[in-house]
Amino acid sequence: MGREFIDIFDEWVHSYDASVSGEDPEYRDVFDGYDNILNEVANRVSGTVIEFGTGTGNLTAKLLETCVSVIGIEPNTMMRKITSERFPSIEVLDGDLLQFNVGIESIDAIVSSYVFHHLTDDEKGEALKEYAKLLPTNGKVVFADTVFITEEAKQAQIAKERNRGFHHVADDLEREYYTTIPILTKLFEEAGFHVSFTKMNDFVWLMDASKNKEL
Ligand SMILES: C[S@@+](CC[C@H](N)C(=O)[O-])C[C@H]1O[C@@H](n2cnc3c(N)ncnc32)[C@H](O)[C@@H]1O
Repeated sequence: MGREFIDIFDEWVHSYDASVSGEDPEYRDVFDGYDNILNEVANRVSGTVIEFGTGTGNLTAKLLETCVSVIGIEPNTMMRKITSERFPSIEVLDGDLLQFNVGIESIDAIVSSYVFHHLTDDEKGEALKEYAKLLPTNGKVVFADTVFITEEAKQAQIAKERNRGFHHVADDLEREYYTTIPILTKLFEEAGFHVSFTKMNDFVWLMDASKNKEL
């Protein structure tokens, strides 16, 4: 559940940092402004933070500049090893967006970049309800990920990628669970968050959510 795509990263681990720096033409637009996107996530949180899907640790590096404590959760063994070796002072645990055990009760924020689309929409809703239980009032969830304004916009992007011969990106958009802003808004609100969205590039939006006061 939610881990069906982790083997893809056994292969991608070797060239992932080249992809995010724009060396892979197919993924150049997806990672356009990558450094700024990670900075935007990191600058919106503080205190004790859980980061899901650390990958090679690029967001982790930014978080360590702004936060008191970072707990990484990464299901792919090779990615987990890279983040652990890069930051030996922090815990990088085997877990995922739905199944994780951080062993502490006081969490200020939950973050991720390019990860939330690994869950189906039902699973996203389930995960957000769990995060709401962990966070205090005004506690934050800040995610950056590929999101579309509408399903029609998603289908148009897939067609655009196929037309320009970018079949890896088109296949990725069809295979994984990329969703829309109206669906995400509903899921965040049902879980007790207020959420706002900021467009970062042609694919990625920043989701900045704060937990509402309990009624
Ligand atoms: C595209 S990479 C993003 C890495 C990093 N956050 C970044 O911005 O560069 C996605 C990462 O999410 C991890 N992942 C895949 N499925 C996951 C899940 N269900 N829960 C948490 N992480 C997951 C992958 O192993 C991979 O390291």
